[in-house]
Amino acid sequence: MATQLRLRSALALVTGAGSGIGRAVCVRLAREGASVAACDLDGAAARETVGLLGGPGNVEGVPRGAHAAFQVDVSEAVAARQLLEQVQACFSRPPSVVVSCAGVTRDGFLLHMSENDWDKVIAVNLKGIFLVTQAAAQALVSNGGRGSIINISSIVGKVGNMGQINYAASKAGVIGLTQTAALELGRHGIRCNSVLPGFITTPMTQKVPQKVLDKVTGKIPMGHLGDPEDVADVVAFLASDDSRYITGASVEVTGGLFM
Ligand SMILES: NC(=O)c1ccc[n+]([C@@H]2O[C@H](COP(=O)([O-])OP(=O)(O)OC[C@H]3O[C@@H](n4cnc5c(N)ncnc54)[C@H](O)[C@@H]3O)[C@@H](O)[C@H]2O)c1
Repeated sequence: MATQLRLRSALALVTGAGSGIGRAVCVRLAREGASVAACDLDGAAARETVGLLGGPGNVEGVPRGAHAAFQVDVSEAVAARQLLEQVQACFSRPPSVVVSCAGVTRDGFLLHMSENDWDKVIAVNLKGIFLVTQAAAQALVSNGGRGSIINISSIVGKVGNMGQINYAASKAGVIGLTQTAALELGRHGIRCNSVLPGFITTPMTQKVPQKVLDKVTGKIPMGHLGDPEDVADVVAFLASDDSRYITGASVEVTGGLFM
């Protein structure tokens, strides 16, 4: 199939870009013609991702360099604001596509969860998405630009998960945050949607005991865990005009788990 270039004029800011789903999203969006600002707490990993980005520019002989890496801790308000300033300075425009993939787990049961583990997961997974969404929306609104904001939640935010009280709460929060942003930003031409992956093979799920993964796999109608590319393909659709009338949605990418 010929590569589609649905994002030819887009600048995409992706957080959590140094690994797993975020990296696959960067590769997919670049392949569709977007310039990518790859952002991660691990700056070296973000630079590695940029090294993987080809895109149509290469195919047509246009020199590389349409992409750049940024180091950021999305849970820090000042850092999130500075990130948007740096990206705008680098590309001379605000990002029209913003994909928040940065996330962490600190698993534990309710009866034993420490305050630190609760705070850490909420700070990165929920406050981080608030800060990036707010800074990006402010930049877009003041430039009069249309945009698509895509926040990675989780199916766990909808159905809960044993041992993930903090993570489930953070991901449920992302769904409500994104719906509210969609309500407030629609009149500015900015769409906001969340994606709810099920179990996807990435460094995050490598931490899950094999016994648990086997049990989960048995419950997935499609019969296997997902790949990061399965999520990235949906993100590319939500980023593009093919989804122009979709906002406030939560799209499940689960292989049918918990349907
Ligand atoms: N893998 C799955 O099964 C799965 C399922 C549902 C949802 N998700 C969500 O998808 C997103 C990506 O997960 P993944 O599986 O690719 O995980 P991953 O661990 O492979 O990647 C997460 C990335 O986020 C970065 N990061 C962590 N804290 C950060 C911070 N404070 N600031 C900036 N970057 C930070 C990490 O450095 C890492 O590169 C996460 O939000 C995760 O919760 C994953």
